Amino acid sequence: MAPQAPTLTSAAPRRRYRPRRLIAISIFSLFILLALIILIFYLSVRPRPISFSVEDARIHNFNLSSSDTLNVTFHLALLADNHRNHHLSIYYDSLGVAVWYADQMLAFRELPPFHQPTRNVTRLVLAASAGAVPLFGSVADGLKHDRSAGEVGVEIRVRARVRFKVGAAKTKHYVLRAYCSPVVVRFWPAAGWSFQKTYCDTDV
Ligand SMILES: *[C@@H]1O[C@H](CO)[C@@H](O)[C@H](O)[C@H]1NC(C)=O
Ligand SMILES: *[C@@H]1O[C@H](CO)[C@@H](O)[C@H](O)[C@H]1NC(C)=O
Ligand SMILES: *[C@@H]1O[C@H](CO)[C@@H](O)[C@H](O)[C@H]1NC(C)=O
Repeated sequence: MAPQAPTLTSAAPRRRYRPRRLIAISIFSLFILLALIILIFYLSVRPRPISFSVEDARIHNFNLSSSDTLNVTFHLALLADNHRNHHLSIYYDSLGVAVWYADQMLAFRELPPFHQPTRNVTRLVLAASAGAVPLFGSVADGLKHDRSAGEVGVEIRVRARVRFKVGAAKTKHYVLRAYCSPVVVRFWPAAGWSFQKTYCDTDV
């Protein structure tokens, strides 16, 4: 006599479904537990915003030719501020600093990669130069006007590729952007004049 195939008919005792219910409850509990672990991890790491600011900016060798080409060097000191993060360090795999004036980029500088520890403020000192950069007519006019007025307001833009590290875990790459504006720079800084620190809009 051939063995009868097991059937799940409505006549089957209800007891049979219990293991499934148990499994469902276990999986659900596991999810809750996992969510709790993630929440606790997040609360203990608690990523804080990173901020940038411009601490100093100076103009050197400004020369705007009669054919509207610009030579200039901006000496800049930026602060990359990670002091609020107790558990999160940052890999800056690339970092570029650009000086913009009225929708035209005047000068650019790429910095070498670095790792920023937790609770750290790193001072980035750099010079961004323009070598005979041709200017739009309106930009040249604006710069001539500012030069005779004695100071110029530029925008400094930072763009970086970063990864975050918590314990032994590293994240994927993110793009960090900081916009600092207006950064007011004097052409002939007088004694007693001090640069006004400028805070940047920073987002990742
Ligand atoms: C700008 O450069 C030109 C050409 O080298 C030079 O003749 C001129 O004196 C410079 N102007 C200033 C203000 O330095
Ligand atoms: C921040 O980190 C850099 C590089 O590791 C180090 O040179 C600097 O002294 C640190 N600054 C502070 C305030 O801890
Ligand atoms: C401006 O920069 C260009 C390119 O670096 C250089 O050849 C030229 O001599 C510079 N002009 C002045 C006036 O410094």
